[in-house]
Amino acid sequence: MSVKKYKMFVDGKWVSSHAGETWDVINPANQEVIANVPLADEEDTRMAIGAARRAFDKGPWRNMTQVDRGKLLLELARAIREKTEELALLETLNCGKPIRESRYDISDTADCFEFYGGLADKINGDVVPVPDPDIFAMVLREPVGVVGQIIPWNYPLLMAAWKLAPALATGNCCVLKPAEITPLTALELAKLIKKVGFPDGVVNIINGLGPVAGMELGRNEDVDKIAFTGSIEVGKKLMVAAAENVKKISLELGGKSPMIVFEDANFPLAVEWVQFGIFVNQGQVCSATSRLYVQDKIHDQFVEALTKKTKRVRIGDPLNESTEMGPIASEEQLNKVMTYIDHGKREGAEIAYGGKRLERGELKKGFYVAPTVFTNVKNEMKIVQDEIFGPVLTVTKFRDEEEALELANATRYGLAGGVFTRDLNRAFRITKGLRAGIIWVNSSQPCFNQLAWGGYKHSGIGRELGKYAVEEYTQLKQVTINLNENPLGWYS
Ligand code: NAI
Ligand code: MG
Repeated sequence: MSVKKYKMFVDGKWVSSHAGETWDVINPANQEVIANVPLADEEDTRMAIGAARRAFDKGPWRNMTQVDRGKLLLELARAIREKTEELALLETLNCGKPIRESRYDISDTADCFEFYGGLADKINGDVVPVPDPDIFAMVLREPVGVVGQIIPWNYPLLMAAWKLAPALATGNCCVLKPAEITPLTALELAKLIKKVGFPDGVVNIINGLGPVAGMELGRNEDVDKIAFTGSIEVGKKLMVAAAENVKKISLELGGKSPMIVFEDANFPLAVEWVQFGIFVNQGQVCSATSRLYVQDKIHDQFVEALTKKTKRVRIGDPLNESTEMGPIASEEQLNKVMTYIDHGKREGAEIAYGGKRLERGELKKGFYVAPTVFTNVKNEMKIVQDEIFGPVLTVTKFRDEEEALELANATRYGLAGGVFTRDLNRAFRITKGLRAGIIWVNSSQPCFNQLAWGGYKHSGIGRELGKYAVEEYTQLKQVTINLNENPLGWYS
């Protein structure tokens, strides 16, 4: 396969890094180099920030009406949809997710731009009655300014959309940094952004190492806000950096989300969703329901059904239409997953299924891991407490509702959680009792652009999607207009 050379997108132009540094992009299914992209250092990052700053302070973007901004976003959604097949193929080649999932992601990406295209002209401030008849008071909602956006590799294009769409709908200018290993679909998106006619500098997309380009976004004085999705460790570092110039910040830091299955659940339905909730995208999902709690009476039967179903998962070339699980996205992540699996075994957990790297035939060229189910786990174990970000499920027994909630909440994370039961009141009690930002009753992982996405506790701060992301990308300005022409008006 030929190695495609890319450039970065800064100020509406295609540029190399000033030092000529580049990065080889690898296909995790076979470790072949598929593309080469520029690697931005601090100086390159500052160029991109400068372009965004100028576009925000002086460019035509500020004076573009909300209606017109919305139309541009809708145009972009259309352009993405037209290229669904091409983008899906590139996504799968770059991050290894099954092609069917990539197609779904691209369509979801277009939906996200469409949602914010529609919302753009419906964002407004307020006229507020105050206790003075001579004062006309308003609260205006204005863009934050220049936003630095740092995204991960598990949903490369979709995460770009979650960041760019609300930022642009609210009138900000952006510097987006994809994860170093998955830059390709974001760079293709840049071509579409240029094509549909966003003014130069409004969106800049640079590739670079996290601690270099990412951190420059975090600490740069000209960046007014940081939006980040990734690890807790990096999220904390960005918070510290952002504190230097009192930047606004939003963080989505993943999770270790519980799924609670009661004995009255629709059993086959629960088995389906539990499996999907941990093995979709090879388990590299921030909201993966990676901790399963099953009521003692049905525990053994549930594990048996789940194991039987997991054995049938079709693993292999992600370009194959029937593949259900592809490779892990990088060697680094593969090693992390394997280290956790080994740790689980050493801690005394039992492997009901999987627990190893897959290396038969063609699979040995890629980063494949068997879907893995651990039983006999204790809540304190590392495999139950840490986000593994791979196809690894832990299963724990519980007696009653109270114990289920106690176990489910005993983690530093709080992104998502779910429950399977046919008892409506119990479903509500669990919903109320779980300390997490996203709750699923009788399913796992449904995600809608209209709702709020984000976590409690260490899973982050702020919310993405829906009208809720508007809060993150705007600031309020109060305005009072004095209608009283007497000197000093209300003071006299
Ligand atoms: P990471 O948090 O290091 O990387 C995510 C993004 O942050 C990438 O764009 C990276 O370039 C950037 N970054 C890295 N270090 C940075 C720094 N010092 N300053 C600014 N930006 C920086 O995550 P990584 O290493 O890819 O994965 C490690 C673990 O993080 C995973 O195993 C998983 O547990 C978690 N993670 C969670 C995600 C989520 O969706 N919440 C997504 C990706 C990873
Ligand atoms: Mg990292």
